[in-house]
Amino acid sequence: MIAEQNGAQNQSKFRAAVIGLGRMSKCHLEAIASSCAFSLVAVCDADGDTLRRAILADDVLRFSDVESMMRAAQPDLVIVVTPDAWHAENTVSAAAFRPRAIICEKPMSVDYRDAVRMVETCDQLGVHLLINHQRRISPGQRGRTLISSGIIGEPIELEAYCAGQLLSDGTHAIDFLFYLSGDVLPSDVYGAVFFSPHEGQIPQRYGHSADCAGCVFWRPIPSTGCRVFTGSFAQRTPYMQVRVRGTTGDLWLPGDIDQKWYVHHHTTSAKPRTHAASPDNNGWYLVPSETVGGDWHLADSSPSAASNAMTQSLDLLADLLSGEASTSHPLDAHNALNVQAIINAAYLSAATNAPVCPVLSREATIPFNQLTLRAEADHKASFSIL
Ligand SMILES: NC(=O)c1ccc[n+]([C@@H]2O[C@H](COP(=O)([O-])OP(=O)(O)OC[C@H]3O[C@@H](n4cnc5c(N)ncnc54)[C@H](O)[C@@H]3O)[C@@H](O)[C@H]2O)c1
Repeated sequence: MIAEQNGAQNQSKFRAAVIGLGRMSKCHLEAIASSCAFSLVAVCDADGDTLRRAILADDVLRFSDVESMMRAAQPDLVIVVTPDAWHAENTVSAAAFRPRAIICEKPMSVDYRDAVRMVETCDQLGVHLLINHQRRISPGQRGRTLISSGIIGEPIELEAYCAGQLLSDGTHAIDFLFYLSGDVLPSDVYGAVFFSPHEGQIPQRYGHSADCAGCVFWRPIPSTGCRVFTGSFAQRTPYMQVRVRGTTGDLWLPGDIDQKWYVHHHTTSAKPRTHAASPDNNGWYLVPSETVGGDWHLADSSPSAASNAMTQSLDLLADLLSGEASTSHPLDAHNALNVQAIINAAYLSAATNAPVCPVLSREATIPFNQLTLRAEADHKASFSIL
């Protein structure tokens, strides 16, 4: 760590650098700006115009390649916010310069073997690698605490709907249910992935093929099931909606904007009322019962966190780097690697029409792009086991 002068106060801060200055970088730059422990010293973007146009403090160094930035700026923390297909290469290149930590955006990679390489490289070089599944911190931690408090008895079914694609967006939902159910790798994963070619081409997003719908099922323990629906299966729902059905009640996160959990106790009503017509009368979606009647109520009376999940994540990382934290960071890449194993198994399951063990599937990885190429070659638009 290099000591810096910060206004009138002498304050020691960790030096942070950001790779990729697109839409999501704004959230990271804001989190750094609001953190007391990190200051931005350098940025890198492969696109010259983006680099020039970025509005940054005068003393922030700008680079067009990762190695030059690492060599010159020597950051303690590197945040990788490039498209998914670049995560592995950017992470491994930055790790070679041994920063204290790297936060890489989700999903870890587009090929499970790259995700393994990221974790192994960082472990060997002593670099803390975190993957930005920030919903784990909020509203995930609160959800897990509510479940462990027994508010709904024993959890039986966990279900998440997530708009967007299985890999890029569904990774949040899979990580969320994986976390809520105790970070337990299942023995089998069932997956279905659908592609919708446009003018003979499968659409691309973030440097890889973009599916139009997906579903993933797994059981962390025999008595509990997890189900994730993405894309077309999650239409007319907020970005991420989660329901946990328990033996004595249900927990429900209607969306992740206000991050509030609702609870319904089975004993107070035989039939929880949760469905309402959408405002345009064009479908249905789940809504809090305050607006439609029924007996859902806020599960959580504690005030919401003073800062957002990404700022909290930086605070936790600062504690870890300062030796003040005894436990690992909630966004630790070893958890995300297991999530990537579930996604990998889901794609393999979709391709083979069979349940797939995420542990064994590590040896039988299909790069997500290769799966798509097979779909194109066969003139098939989908793989499904359902
Ligand atoms: N955690 C979340 O909630 C969340 C939300 C949105 C996006 N994301 C993830 O963030 C990442 C970035 O998304 P975005 O919407 O900001 O993308 P974007 O396309 O808007 O920006 C990416 C930037 O990276 C730059 N870039 C591309 N390749 C590069 C390279 N090799 N070296 C340096 N710079 C490079 C591009 O020029 C661009 O400026 C994606 O992986 C996405 O999945 C996460």
